[in-house]
Amino acid sequence: MSATTAPTSDATPATEVPMVEARGVHKVFGHGAGALHVLRGVDLVVPQGSVTVVLGPSGSGKSTLLRCLNELEEITAGSVHVDGELLGYRHDAKGVLHRLHPRRIAAQRSRIGMVFQRFHLFGHMTALENVAEAPVQVRGLSKAAARRRAAELLERVGLADRADHYPAQLSGGQQQRVAIARALAMDPELMLFDEPTSALDPELVGEVLTVMQDLARSGMTMVVVTHEIGFAREVADHVVFMDDGVVVEQGPPGAVLENPSEPRLQEFLSHVL
Ligand SMILES: Nc1ncnc2c1ncn2[C@@H]1O[C@H](COP(=O)(O)OP(=O)(O)OP(=O)(O)O)[C@@H](O)[C@H]1O
Ligand SMILES: [Mg+2]
Repeated sequence: MSATTAPTSDATPATEVPMVEARGVHKVFGHGAGALHVLRGVDLVVPQGSVTVVLGPSGSGKSTLLRCLNELEEITAGSVHVDGELLGYRHDAKGVLHRLHPRRIAAQRSRIGMVFQRFHLFGHMTALENVAEAPVQVRGLSKAAARRRAAELLERVGLADRADHYPAQLSGGQQQRVAIARALAMDPELMLFDEPTSALDPELVGEVLTVMQDLARSGMTMVVVTHEIGFAREVADHVVFMDDGVVVEQGPPGAVLENPSEPRLQEFLSHVL
């Protein structure tokens, strides 16, 4: 190897590009006296193939952070890179930042899957049609190919026998699993979950968490906002606790959940555990 060769991949995994690298992210809603400063300088690094669970009290900015990672919100300051690519902006030859064209932003967003508390399935489409829709509309996949792939994904989330059911004929847990399959149909490199089980009856939570755990095991990079501490303990590589728009404490689940150092986190855990 010559001396001018760039470092190769036998370097430690720590040097690989993170899937998510958020630096100094601020989000302000509104202007002037009514402005609400919701994110106040969030740093978040999510390595490829890892699972990060985000905890925090209501209003601490968890959903806003996820929405910034997915470009559903434009950040006020800071930067977000996903798989090494700056979201929302490009540098010109002089280093000046320019907002990307909406089409380019949509393309960036299509690499990131998002699952919400409410499933937002199309009520007039079957489970299979819900999953097959975006690949046809956005990716231009043939209907036949999209339906084949949708059937595979429904099998993966344990719903092969519900493919022809309409959302109203499915339980909340089944609908949420369809929503996960629908997000996976776009072949995302990153999956964001915003309290995916908090609208479900308690007996339906487990089936959704099991699907998420399988997805994590398959190597998907995931950022999950949830109050399911058991899931955080068993599945997360990294736990982040937010309060009032900042990351107050973070680390491996063992340390953050069993031995929190921040009083605000101790207080929060005493309520959710
Ligand atoms: N589009 C918006 N316009 C104005 N304020 C907003 C908007 N979205 C969120 N907020 C405010 O930002 C703050 C943080 O909201 P966010 O939804 O991110 O909190 P959260 O941590 O997800 O809370 P929860 O646990 O209740 O879901 C709240 O005060 C909320 O009212
Ligand atoms: Mg929220």
